[in-house]
Amino acid sequence: MKEINIREIEKSPVELIADGWGLVTAGSSKSFNTMTVSWGAVGEIWGKDAAFIFIRPQRYTYEFIEKEEIFTLSFYGSEHKDALRLCGSKSGRDIDKAAACGLTPVFTDGGVTFEQAEYTIVCRKMASQFIDPAGFADASIENNYANKDYHKMYIGEIIKVYKK
Ligand SMILES: Cc1cc2nc3c(=O)[nH]c(=O)nc-3n(C[C@H](O)[C@H](O)[C@H](O)COP(=O)(O)O)c2cc1C
Repeated sequence: MKEINIREIEKSPVELIADGWGLVTAGSSKSFNTMTVSWGAVGEIWGKDAAFIFIRPQRYTYEFIEKEEIFTLSFYGSEHKDALRLCGSKSGRDIDKAAACGLTPVFTDGGVTFEQAEYTIVCRKMASQFIDPAGFADASIENNYANKDYHKMYIGEIIKVYKK
């Protein structure tokens, strides 16, 4: 893995996150979990390069992100789409997802990513907050929340970016 600047990633954040999907991973070499995300953003806040992710509270990964200071966002070539499908449909409560989809964990900067990642963005948790439906200007957003399981948004300072 070679360290790069976030500005050296050629793909737009929309291609990277919405189209390609990514893995959010948190934990340590003793215990970690990963899950697929396609909602999120990369930009700037409070004068820092930052990533924004949205995690529903019932996810097993939520427990790790709540505990840990570091989380990673990692992105993969299309040959790994099945792995991302698995990590987005099975819970780490039930199976060892990394083993099941053949991803090799790499422990770095206090976080966890995978050897197969094309890009890894290492984030230091700066703030988190549940989405408040009182703020929905567009009432149809509520259709995403039949179970009132509003996402928690995590804002992470981008502290390192790696390219395979
Ligand atoms: C393409 C795709 C995108 C997803 N994006 C998100 C997301 O942004 N936030 C979220 O909470 N869940 C998202 N999910 C669902 C989780 O990845 C899924 O529930 C996963 O099994 C949770 O695993 P865990 O219980 O081990 O944390 C997505 C699933 C897929 C397939």
